[in-house]
Amino acid sequence: MSIAEKFVSMEYGPAPEDPKEALAWLDRHQRKFKLFIGGEWQQPAAGDYFDTLDPSTGEKLASVAQGSAADVDAAVKAARAAAPKWQAFTPHIRARYLYALARLVQKHSRLLAVLETLDNGKPIRESRDIDIPLVARHFYYHAGWAQLLEQEFPGHEPCGVVGQIIPWNFPLLMLAWKIAPALAAGNTVVLKPAEFTPLTALAFAELCQEAGLPAGVVNIVTGDGSTGEALVKHPDVDKIAFTGSTEVGRAIRGATAASHKRLSLELGGKSPFIIFEDADLDSAVEGLVDGIWFNQGQVCCAGSRLLMQESIAEPLIAKIRNRMSTLRVGPPLDKAIDIGAIVARVQLDRIHRMVEQGVAEGATCWQPEMTLPQRGFYYPPTLLCNVQPTSIVAQQEIFGPVLAAMTFRTPHEAVELANNTVYGLASCVWSESVNVALHVAAQIKAGVVWVNCANLFDAACGFGGYRESGYGREGGREGMLEYMEPTWFKHAPKLASDPLPAQAAGPGSESQKKDTTEISAPAIDRTVKLYIGGKQARPDSGYSMPVHSADGRMLGEAPLGNRKDIRNAVEAAHKAAGWAKATAHNRAQVLYYCAENLSQRREETIRHLAEVMGEKQAAAEVEHGIERIFSYAAWADKFDGAVHNPPFRNIAIAMNEAIGTVGVICPNAVPLLGFLSLVMPLLAVGNTVIAVPSEKYPLITADLYQLFDTSDLPGGAVNIVTGYSSQLLKTLAEHDDVDALWCAGDDTLCAAAKAMSTGNLKQVWTNEGRVIDWFDPKQSEGRWYLEHATQVKNIWVPYGE
Ligand code: NAI
Repeated sequence: MSIAEKFVSMEYGPAPEDPKEALAWLDRHQRKFKLFIGGEWQQPAAGDYFDTLDPSTGEKLASVAQGSAADVDAAVKAARAAAPKWQAFTPHIRARYLYALARLVQKHSRLLAVLETLDNGKPIRESRDIDIPLVARHFYYHAGWAQLLEQEFPGHEPCGVVGQIIPWNFPLLMLAWKIAPALAAGNTVVLKPAEFTPLTALAFAELCQEAGLPAGVVNIVTGDGSTGEALVKHPDVDKIAFTGSTEVGRAIRGATAASHKRLSLELGGKSPFIIFEDADLDSAVEGLVDGIWFNQGQVCCAGSRLLMQESIAEPLIAKIRNRMSTLRVGPPLDKAIDIGAIVARVQLDRIHRMVEQGVAEGATCWQPEMTLPQRGFYYPPTLLCNVQPTSIVAQQEIFGPVLAAMTFRTPHEAVELANNTVYGLASCVWSESVNVALHVAAQIKAGVVWVNCANLFDAACGFGGYRESGYGREGGREGMLEYMEPTWFKHAPKLASDPLPAQAAGPGSESQKKDTTEISAPAIDRTVKLYIGGKQARPDSGYSMPVHSADGRMLGEAPLGNRKDIRNAVEAAHKAAGWAKATAHNRAQVLYYCAENLSQRREETIRHLAEVMGEKQAAAEVEHGIERIFSYAAWADKFDGAVHNPPFRNIAIAMNEAIGTVGVICPNAVPLLGFLSLVMPLLAVGNTVIAVPSEKYPLITADLYQLFDTSDLPGGAVNIVTGYSSQLLKTLAEHDDVDALWCAGDDTLCAAAKAMSTGNLKQVWTNEGRVIDWFDPKQSEGRWYLEHATQVKNIWVPYGE
């Protein structure tokens, strides 16, 4: 046999990694781990422990403490007690601790990699070459932000005590993604690892001790979902950061709604992997190996939906099958293994169940011939073809090595299919045409787009989802902002509850009926309509609400908008999606024109507003209002993204994208300036808006629609629905085509905004029931609002031959 023939037929020999050191580490702890609280190892209050298993064999590795609510409380107290000292350090001192942690991760990298593989079942090749180096990189990168904190984030302060809950698929990497930015920003932490994979977090606790991190800055409380729940509900936690399933993310969103905890969620995905006919097919197949068979497919951003251009489907499928036949499934400590063990029996059962259901729904299933190990939890690489876009395997996260393949004909159809999901975490686009690839990348609703590459990560590039994949970013500058608050906002006083008489009354109620009769009298001079799709519209309800002057006179009536009106407004806003595509320069021009027109109507607007708000406030609102519009006209072509240089031959283009259609509940006390302060930043970056104006003076709508009508704003970019804020809020919150909600109101209204929008996990910004001085530009305008009006999309583009 020639060498060339041998090369092709040669079998792999075993290349096992020696787990001796890791097993000795487990033995040194008598294979039993307590909780890491206040810098010490503490017995769980209830004395309960659970087993963590090696998924490659199903055998027990160690027992680990089951943290109870009492343990969580002790950990939160320790974190709270540690906060003043940690925050009193200079940024440089905190940077030194993060740097020390990075060094220690590198120093113990092999132990950490082997432990990770033992506990999780992932191939040692991945834990050694991807997970652990990225962990170290994350701590180095954030040591840098800690150092630069005062220069780069002036006027901000840490959230305080942060509760962090992580999943089992990248145990130490998710810990690093959470702990590094939290510490860099000056927070203290209570972290709960996943119950299947607690060991590397416990090893990390030892590194914290070795680095001399002050007691209580990092606390690790192991346990199951009930431990996570106790952390979420703890009243003295200022922020929750969660990575895991969408279902649990939704529960956490509900549980935190009535509190002022900040929340970031990194949830599930069903990411499209799009291959165009002009792609380099061999490279695309290698990309697919990383896309769906990396970490056994247990990756939130796995490219689990293959979308192939129809013309190349057949040869592509043949290539994929060939490549699948060479993938090696087996003991993950073997360095020549591609696919290791599934994390747990329950996850394996779930994969089996979902594939069976997909086949029952018409998919054809192909798996390469291979013998799986007798013991442990293994699943072969799997290709499902003829998958209907509505099938469970095309819509739900399988979290296993299973690829669902579909075809498309045109780029337009590819985008439609790609976005046909409730998720929006990541995506891949393969095409040799840079025009096609970037055109498609811009249209995909996902936080990350990898062009001609797959599953690349770097601490400098923010990662996170659109839609039900969650919100908030990890990594990059935007990731740091998740762990800080503007100082003025954190300390702003509470808004006094100001229930307006009209608020309590629904359509048809006694007081309402009375007012309706009254306003039919001829003395009323101003009657406004709703403003939908650039036109004045009568309300569906046929009811109106009375508007009184400061001295109690009836000034006019405003329509009582209802569910149907909001639905019409959402439809109009969607039709105006071209506003997002307009150039930033065009948007700026329209906003400048609005400012000019408000300036021309200055006297008239002041006169109207003065009847309710008094002359002084009315004049101030109009003056500041003109300036506010001017300011966002200025921002429209300046709120740029960034270009990152990750340590690969790639650039990552971080774009600030509009969120989509945003519902806005405007503040009551400052009808014109409050409206402009919230609506203008949203418009400046290309969102379309459905605004509910102040209940106190909804007649402002008439001034506004005259302003918009004369300023070339496309119909539907702003829609105004007057009525009772609390009722319209509910409809906006529950509407699945409203992508985000902004609500300025008292505590009750803000809590309702968060609680009611858990359904499609829409992004919610509220004033947390706090006072915002709308006349003070430091509080009421600028980057903070623009950051909430956008979401960052990172488009990775490789370079080189
Ligand atoms: P999970 O979402 O239940 O677990 C993630 C973390 O949340 C764990 O630490 C868990 O203990 C904790 N947790 C569970 N219930 C909680 C609650 N009510 N309050 C607070 N914390 C809670 O995910 P699980 O059960 O491990 O996996 C189920 C499915 O979720 C997987 O099959 C996969 O589809 C998906 N998943 C997605 C992940 C992602 O990164 N997108 C990660 C892990 C799972």
